[in-house]
Amino acid sequence: MKTILVTGGAGFIGSHVIRNLVQKHPEYRVINLDNLTYAGNLENLEDIKDQSNYQFVKGDIVDASFLSELFDTHTIDGVIHLAAESHVDRSIESPMDFINTNIIGTVNLLNACRTAWKDQLEGKLFYHISTDEVYGSLGKEGLFTEETAYDPRSPYSASKASSDHLVRAYHHTYGLPVVLSNCSNNYGPNQFPEKLIPLAIHNIIHMKPIPIYGKGENIRDWLFVKDHADAIELIFHKGETGRTYNIGGINEWTNIDLIRLLCRIMDQKLERREGTSESLITYVKDRAGHDMRYAIDSSRISDELGWSPSLTFEVGLEKTVDWYLENQQWMERVTSGAYQSYYQKQYEER
Ligand code: NAD
Ligand code: TYD
Repeated sequence: MKTILVTGGAGFIGSHVIRNLVQKHPEYRVINLDNLTYAGNLENLEDIKDQSNYQFVKGDIVDASFLSELFDTHTIDGVIHLAAESHVDRSIESPMDFINTNIIGTVNLLNACRTAWKDQLEGKLFYHISTDEVYGSLGKEGLFTEETAYDPRSPYSASKASSDHLVRAYHHTYGLPVVLSNCSNNYGPNQFPEKLIPLAIHNIIHMKPIPIYGKGENIRDWLFVKDHADAIELIFHKGETGRTYNIGGINEWTNIDLIRLLCRIMDQKLERREGTSESLITYVKDRAGHDMRYAIDSSRISDELGWSPSLTFEVGLEKTVDWYLENQQWMERVTSGAYQSYYQKQYEER
């Protein structure tokens, strides 16, 4: 039986990755290592928490001695590393949290693997989950490929870029078996409502303003989170060691068009008069250093591993809205307490 350590498994993407592994791979013991920051929520895994091949461990990847004990206690065969500080706006406010978790935390994990696997690298794998934001910002034309030069422009993307470089350096220098993927913007169930789509859903439900940064013309490529989790499972099993795979939705939207589509879906679902949600759209001060456009060329993963997105955006967005409407208590719980002061600071002064 192989033991797979997933970091950040109580977060948005990590919880979908854990569910996939636990349900599809009874031959794995899956350990979810998560520090349960504001973004970590064990409620996301309520349905699988009692499965015999699943175990939760609370701990901080910044704490090297904790990691070394964890690797001494368990024989870990593979790591899927998702734990990170993940929100650009928070990185603008508090860059050091991103430097610590995303860079130091990743190096600590690499060191723990190097030590634990020093006598036997065969069959081991360190899989690092990263973002398309490391490539910087595109103009109207072009797509990010795996060969695009890194050009990170926010403390978040710079910290992720740094961690990607360290993962590759450990592969080249020490022969650590690694694989990486860089994905576009995810959406779907369980996303914390600091990110655009769940924040807008929350505000529409409560008839609060929907804040759009700048003119709403920035473009993102959106991928349904379960498609990302499937891609991660595929790369973990079939990806070539040392290789990077870009994952994207082939689904570019300006923020304003995306929000208008969401507003139409919400009006229908909430049985409100057409145009009710759109009237909440409010343009606010732009994000500092706001990247204009992200778009991914995912031909490598599609040609080499046969992956492609399974859903259209319209279907995925409707599924997402349905999930948030059916799980309003989840939303109410995560938006009580500290979220209120975060929201006030981010938006009420804008
Ligand atoms: P998230 O913020 O929802 O979850 C992060 C998880 O990491 C949380 O459960 C949190 O408690 C945990 N964590 C944070 N600091 C930790 C620490 N020091 N020790 C242990 N656990 C810690 O993030 P997400 O959106 O699920 O993103 C997961 C990964 O995927 C990140 O590495 C992110 O950079 C990457 N990614 C995200 C997106 C996206 O659109 N959300 C796109 C591409 C890549
Ligand atoms: P976000 O969900 O924070 O993801 P990222 O910055 O990693 O792409 O933001 C997606 C886009 O939406 C981005 O262009 C910023 C914009 N945005 C708003 O216009 N208003 C908001 O309240 C938020 C959170 C984001």
